[in-house]
Amino acid sequence: VPLHLPWIDAINALKKQRGAVIMAHSYQSPEIFHGVADVTGDSLALAQAAASCDSDLIVLCGVHFMAESAKILAPDKTVLIPDLEAGCSLASSITAADVRALRAQHPGVPVVSYVNTSAEVKAESDACCTSANAVQVVEAIAAESGSDKVIFLPDRYLGSWVATRTGIELVLWNGTCEVHEKFTAMEARHTRERFDAKIVAHPECSPEVLAEADFVGSTSAMGRWLEKEKPTRVAMVTECSMADNLRNRFPQVQFIKPCNLCPHMKRITLPNIHAALHDLRHEVHVAPDVAARARAALDRMLAVGR
Ligand code: 13P
Ligand code: SF4
Repeated sequence: VPLHLPWIDAINALKKQRGAVIMAHSYQSPEIFHGVADVTGDSLALAQAAASCDSDLIVLCGVHFMAESAKILAPDKTVLIPDLEAGCSLASSITAADVRALRAQHPGVPVVSYVNTSAEVKAESDACCTSANAVQVVEAIAAESGSDKVIFLPDRYLGSWVATRTGIELVLWNGTCEVHEKFTAMEARHTRERFDAKIVAHPECSPEVLAEADFVGSTSAMGRWLEKEKPTRVAMVTECSMADNLRNRFPQVQFIKPCNLCPHMKRITLPNIHAALHDLRHEVHVAPDVAARARAALDRMLAVGR
């Protein structure tokens, strides 16, 4: 931490001078999450914060689809991302043309897209969801459209988890998260048996891993579960920073870390956040026609809530 202090102080001073708000996803490194962020949480929390943000300048410390969602929900604000290359294996697994082809194959079937998609893919969708409200959004869209089938994209693991919870038939896409697909059921079982730990997993993990979990939920829901259950020992089967960022909040809990790093999230650093604020870079733009259609899908998600 002492190494980070000069950067943290400089960023916080510049942030004040600019009147900026720094939003950081749960997978940002602790020096960002605890040191400079004003708003922290899961993808849904960041989208909600952007939609109701007072500041004219948002620095989104997360991956590109999160910054795009913030821009779509706060079109009059300047939204900066410290590194434009911070992508996501799910978002890059599908294009708008793929969604149009799926619709042609399944006429009349509504489309729910995970927020881990580009603005162009959102624009082709009836509604978006995050891992925090995927079940609720799929149920709402199926009920509204009167369809017993929903196209759910692009995460096939999140999709199959939603299917088991809703009993709704889902047409899935073959996308996966490169971070969560690496966990194995054996690893989760071994961790529980060896350390007598509770297993908390993100729904982007495979069904075999999720079958071993005591709790499955979004990154914010994980924190709420710990508050409620207060386990002695817990393994966070998700990105590495999750456990690091929760440690201060739960000093009585022992965290076991069977974690994988998200290389895209880790592109965001204190020096590039400082550069973003100093040089007002890199501004995120979404074409107005795409933004308007994507906004409708995001608004339907926000109406469902958490
Ligand atoms: P959350 O919406 O749960 O924060 O997850 C986003 C994400 O990218 C997980 O890999
Ligand atoms: Fe995408 Fe996975 Fe990284 Fe989340 S953890 S941003 S889903 S690659």
